[in-house]
Amino acid sequence: MSPIGTRKVLITGGGTGIGRAVAEAVLRAGGSVVVTGRRPEPLEAVVAAFPGRVHALPCDIASVSEREGLLSRASALLGGLEGFVHCAGIVEHQPPGHIDEASLRAQLEVNLVAPLRLGEQALQVLEPGGGMVFVSSTLAVRALETSAVYSAAKAGVLQLMRSLALAGAPRRVRANAVLPGVVDTDMVRTLRLAPGEPMPSEPERTARMGAQLERLRALQPLGRLGRPEDVAEAVLYLLGAPWTTGAEMVVDGGILLRE
Ligand SMILES: NC(=O)c1ccc[n+]([C@@H]2O[C@H](COP(=O)([O-])OP(=O)(O)OC[C@H]3O[C@@H](n4cnc5c(N)ncnc54)[C@H](OP(=O)(O)O)[C@@H]3O)[C@@H](O)[C@H]2O)c1
Repeated sequence: MSPIGTRKVLITGGGTGIGRAVAEAVLRAGGSVVVTGRRPEPLEAVVAAFPGRVHALPCDIASVSEREGLLSRASALLGGLEGFVHCAGIVEHQPPGHIDEASLRAQLEVNLVAPLRLGEQALQVLEPGGGMVFVSSTLAVRALETSAVYSAAKAGVLQLMRSLALAGAPRRVRANAVLPGVVDTDMVRTLRLAPGEPMPSEPERTARMGAQLERLRALQPLGRLGRPEDVAEAVLYLLGAPWTTGAEMVVDGGILLRE
């Protein structure tokens, strides 16, 4: 039987990338899931791939009114909730001096405020023995010149995770985090442009994207970028680990060893 924490799980960002891989890992282990995101299409694709075991709950977690009661709605759909994975995230690379105000606010809302508010809901809704997992980043502990806002938010998530772990402990509700390195998803396949630079034409975009991915690959001690499943495996473990709370698991192909 699958461990408690892994059987009825809500996953933000569950329609794409790492979130979708987490959904598939839970489903393969015999659980059922609710997946959220803003776009209905990726969520419906997960529903179609696993008929009867997935519920799609479109939600913009940056909206205070939309995220209110999200965990309770997921619990009602699944007949209880044991696990919560906060995987939704956004990044915009901008160096200091070029940090756009709207982008700053949006990144903080999705990457820091929403996980705190949803984590508070999880404390109320998760069944005893259940767990929440926050997807942080190695950029929480290692800065790029262009990642000030994203790095600050991902570092903040680690600290709020620890407070939630303490608050949840009396009911045996656990909170943990994973810190992925560079994982090959849409997020990494977005071209990093210089401030004010327009998007190049298609052939140039493709060539520069290839070079960007190759540069990132060359940094990896284990020789390849991460796959969403590499991270999903760690998330599934933490969801179901009964005596682990307040922990951070680095899943990064060894890139932090370079620092
Ligand atoms: N890829 C990497 O190298 C890497 C490394 C470290 C950490 N991470 C973290 O891993 C997580 C997953 O990212 P990914 O790499 O799998 O990229 P991704 O495919 O772009 O996933 C991001 C997900 O977040 C959802 N999302 C964004 N804004 C949202 C909002 N306002 N409300 C609800 N959902 C929202 C997106 O769905 P919609 O667009 O439909 O809303 C999407 O499903 C993120 O937290 C990211 O920061 C990624």
